[in-house]
Amino acid sequence: MPTHPQHLMLPGPTPLPPEVLTALGSPMINHRSEAFCELYRAVEAGAKWLCRTEQDVIMLAGSGTTGMEAALCNLFSPGDRVLAITQGSFSERFAQMATTFGLSCDTLAYDWGQAAEPAELESRLNEGDYRAVLMVHNETSTGILNPLPELARICRRYGALSIVDAISSLSSTPLEIDGWELDVTLTASQKGYYAPAGLCLMVLSERAWQMTETATLPRFSLDLRLARDYAHKAQTPWTPPLPVFYALREGFKLLQAEGLEQIQARHLQNMQMLRGGLSKMGFELFVNDERVASRCVTPAIPPEGIPADEIRRVMLEKYHTVLGAGLRKLSGKMLRVGHLGYQDLNTILGVLGCLELSLAELTS
Ligand SMILES: Cc1ncc(COP(=O)(O)O)c(C=O)c1O
Repeated sequence: MPTHPQHLMLPGPTPLPPEVLTALGSPMINHRSEAFCELYRAVEAGAKWLCRTEQDVIMLAGSGTTGMEAALCNLFSPGDRVLAITQGSFSERFAQMATTFGLSCDTLAYDWGQAAEPAELESRLNEGDYRAVLMVHNETSTGILNPLPELARICRRYGALSIVDAISSLSSTPLEIDGWELDVTLTASQKGYYAPAGLCLMVLSERAWQMTETATLPRFSLDLRLARDYAHKAQTPWTPPLPVFYALREGFKLLQAEGLEQIQARHLQNMQMLRGGLSKMGFELFVNDERVASRCVTPAIPPEGIPADEIRRVMLEKYHTVLGAGLRKLSGKMLRVGHLGYQDLNTILGVLGCLELSLAELTS
């Protein structure tokens, strides 16, 4: 590959602003020093601001999947009944993980590309005695946004905990952890926060913390109670990924300077611009209804006869632009344009222009 910098148009990892790239060069320090505690407190304050929560934000070394696993092994015991809402690759992974951990996991399964229907969740919870519902806010494999406030409200009505994978949605999409009384919300540093992968962030409700006391699944390095004890000392139980902490400190500063409402408005505008441009070029949007369309990734099926992966190849080779591929059963059928994080209308117009040139090349 040429040394030309790549334009990452993925729903994670996402491009890093110059301030963050500089911060990543900071020296390593003792993670049991006051200097680290200060760094920890700054990141924690930024995370609480972003999550709009008064509750502890727990930070675990790992990726988003680590947070999903931590949620399961800290809250449940073998045989516990849970319901997983599935509609794509990541939500199916959550269900598969629950089964792997020995939970009795039923699914409320939707076609890939379809949002969950609150009334259907209600009738399933009415029929069965579930301890929790596993759900993805933004299903990144299909670009679907679930109606989270309604789903969470129904969970509460039926006494089931809401366990929410907000890995790709937090920051780009309105999300009220305290306001919607979510029980477990988790995300990962490489998504909308101008940082590389390496840290997952989790917020637990009081009900969820209580369940960590009685759950019997084994846990050791992902023990959230231990992580909370250390968080109260502004530390982590194990050696933390220091570069990610440095990056997040800068990232949160930039995000705070912009403001949460403005960040969300920017993501909405980027999404609308991209959807309009793709449609005009003859792409079929995988999610038709803009109200349930993801604010951070737009999957699109190319015009008849142009293979999606050929477009991705030309975009990479000629225009140094990295687009996401269709996942699993959608492999080769679509491309997924990420517009999460450090992206603005310029980057969206750039990707649309390069796509037009790529289509012209492939059809000439
Ligand atoms: C909705 C969702 N869940 C889970 C994951 C997995 O996260 P990670 O790759 O950080 O483990 C992703 C990653 O793209 C995601 O978008």
